[in-house]
Amino acid sequence: MVSSTPAPHYARLSIALHWLMLVLLAAVYALIELRGLFPKDSAERNLMKDLHFMLGLSVFVLVWLRLAMRLSRPTPPILPKPPAWQTGLAHLMHLALYLLMIGMPLAGWLILSAADKPVPFFGLELPHLIGPNPDQAKFIKGWHERVGSWGYWLIGLHALAGLYHHYVVRDNTLLRMLPYK
Ligand code: HEM
Repeated sequence: MVSSTPAPHYARLSIALHWLMLVLLAAVYALIELRGLFPKDSAERNLMKDLHFMLGLSVFVLVWLRLAMRLSRPTPPILPKPPAWQTGLAHLMHLALYLLMIGMPLAGWLILSAADKPVPFFGLELPHLIGPNPDQAKFIKGWHERVGSWGYWLIGLHALAGLYHHYVVRDNTLLRMLPYK
């Protein structure tokens, strides 16, 4: 018999993608922030930048699968039900996070294209999205860096909200996203 009770957890694939995305984003940020530990044009610094590009592009590949999972299945309900304003804010935050996961890699790809630099992806070289244009590269890079720093706030607030629900409100918000038997 098929139960009509909504599942208490996200699907296993959604849970796996959520935590994999966290690891990828942490690595993408750490690699680019810590590149300054090595001198310009050193092999180490170039490797860190290449890994930033490739892991960032992996976020771009995986985000579509995440979105498909999110849109094709009902979201497990939070119990007890939070006030409507909190649900609205959470939806806005999720939208902003999806835009970050799509927009940042795309902007990065555009920077390398406009700067006429190779776009590496695990042994492949991806095609340029636009023609060479140093001014455009500079402009998009400015936005990539600006929005990247907003990303710290988005991700930090999202994590804080999850912990607040778990430890203060004591509802199942976080438990729905944890691996289960
Ligand atoms: C979710 C994905 C991504 C995030 C969160 C992200 C974040 C960042 C941040 C925060 C910076 C600025 C660091 C600073 O202020 O010095 C940066 C720089 C940069 N990113 Fe990304 N990035 C992502 C994906 C990508 C991708 C996919 C590419 C290219 C394919 C890329 C290309 C670049 C480039 C060219 C720079 C400037 C590096 C330099 O001049 O040394 N990014 N990124």
